[in-house]
Order: sequence, then structure tokens, then C-alpha cells
Amino acid sequence: MTLSNGVTTNTAGRGTPLVVAENLTVGYELERERKLLTALTNINLTVHEGEFVVLVGPSGCGKTTFINAVAGLLQPWEGTVTYQGKPIKGTSRDRSMVFQDYAVMPWRTVEQNVRMPFEFRDSGLSNSQIDERIQTMISDVGLQGFEHSYPHELSGGMRQRVGIARAMVTQPKLLLADEPFGALDAMTREVLQAQLEKLVMNAGQTVVFITHSIDEAISLGDRIAVISHRPGTVREIIDVNIERPRLAEGEITRHPEYGALREHLWGLVKDEALGARGAVA
Ligand SMILES: Nc1ncnc2c1ncn2[C@@H]1O[C@H](COP(=O)(O)OP(=O)(O)OP(=O)(O)O)[C@@H](O)[C@H]1O
Ligand SMILES: [Mg+2]
Repeated sequence: MTLSNGVTTNTAGRGTPLVVAENLTVGYELERERKLLTALTNINLTVHEGEFVVLVGPSGCGKTTFINAVAGLLQPWEGTVTYQGKPIKGTSRDRSMVFQDYAVMPWRTVEQNVRMPFEFRDSGLSNSQIDERIQTMISDVGLQGFEHSYPHELSGGMRQRVGIARAMVTQPKLLLADEPFGALDAMTREVLQAQLEKLVMNAGQTVVFITHSIDEAISLGDRIAVISHRPGTVREIIDVNIERPRLAEGEITRHPEYGALREHLWGLVKDEALGARGAVA
């Protein structure tokens, strides 16, 4: 389907489905109040192999809840969420997470942080292969020379690179990124967006990425799922038909589709944000 402003929403002709959420409803048990809180309701979303899917929506609409369910940290209340056709039961090396708040271990050096995923599960690699993988990953994110630095000796952007390196060092099939660049200044953010685009393009990775930034969503996403206010559901899925690499030259805003996409997305997100405020009032 093509909307009047040139925005397409068809999903035909994509790769193999990797993550499939069908009528997914999930939430939390509020122990103190002894009640259940539905965070997401009736979510239908398919993430295909090699696809970069971005989730946008108002604060509290359930975006983090969705990636927690895909990570295997939460179980569906109703409906299903599958990975390669099987219900997701727990965490897996195949699915890695990057968090918003530089979730790196302050008592570990850069190299020791990036090594962590190899300490929890047997990777089948020899020690020298692991060392090589870690070294390559550290240089891929531009941290060579800082291997033995501690997080407090790094800038925010550098700490976030450690988080990305740690999530990607095992070459996971699926990267789950929860506002990884949210706390960074605009310039660092653009640099890291470009670096992430390059990394995932090279590795052919599948990504589910949360952001509050419409520009970031258009810069990175193959598709953008707009989630409604809580309990969140998929309001619309928008295709971004802009060739890659989009960020190497940094001038995505000049692309002819950019303005129409931005306007359309902004309309949807504003609507939902106002709806959320209305719901609270
Ligand atoms: N551990 C938890 N226990 C109880 N309720 C929770 C928990 N985590 C989230 N919630 C509730 O679930 C709802 C969805 O939260 P979630 O963190 O998924 O939203 P979000 O879309 O990621 O928001 P934000 O954009 O602010 O990060 C919110 O109402 C929140 O209060
Ligand atoms: Mg969140």
C-alpha cells in the first residue's frame, strides 16, 4: 500500500521471518498493589532476517517491554512471540541487548567488559579466537588503544561503544537496542548511528531498535513501527525506502522521501503522545 504522501506500508517480498509476535499481550504483576498492569496488547509484528526495525511511541507505551519479551525476559500473557518459529522461553546468545544507560561494569576494563559474553556460555571458540574477536570488535567501534581503560576514564559515547561491542562480539543474529544513543550529544549520536549502520550491514544482522527520535528512526530503520499509548499496540508500520548506506555521507535529510516520512511519522507520534496524556488526565 502507498499512502498519498509516498509512504509505503507493504511487507511483501521480505526475507524469512525471524521474530513473529502474534496477538501478543504482556505486562507486569504489581506486587504492592496486587494487580496486573498490561503493558502491550494484541501486538502483531514480524521482524524478518536482516531487517532493521525501529519502534517509536510515547513514554510508557511498552517498547522496552516488547524487546524484553523478545529477549526472553518476559513471558506472554496471551498470544505468542516466536524466534525462528519456536516460542521464546528464555535468553539466548543469538539475541543480544544494548541498553540506554551504558550498562557496562565499572570495575572492568573495556577489554574485560567486551569479554563478558564469553564467560557465561561456551562459544565453541578457542581462547585465541576469542581474543582476536574481542580485539577486532574493539577496533570496529573505534576504541583501539583504550582496551585497558576503565569506564570512568571514558566519555559517554565511548562507554556506549563498549556496550555495543559487548552486544555484538558474539555475532548475535538479533540485536535488541533500547534507546542506545538516547543520552548522547547530537554529534556523537550521528557518529555512532553511522557506525552501527556499517556494523550491521557488514554482519547482515537483524535489529530491533527503540528510539524517541524521529530522525534517528528514519536514518536507521527499514521499517518503523509506531506503537500507540499504553497498553501499546501497533498503530502503523512504515517502510523507509531509502538506500544504504544512509549515514556514511550524513546527508539523509536531503533525500526526496525524507520530508514526507518525517511529517507522517511526526503526526502519528504526536497523536499518540497527546493520547497518552489524555489517558493519564
Ligand atoms: N518491571 C516493571 N514492573 C512493573 N511495571 C513495569 C515494569 N517495567 C515497566 N512497567 C510498566 O509497563 C509500562 C510499559 O513500560 P515500558 O518500559 O515498556 O515503556 P517504554 O515504551 O519503554 O517507555 P520509555 O519510552 O519511557 O522507555 C509502563 O506503564 C511501566 O510503568
Ligand atoms: Mg523504554
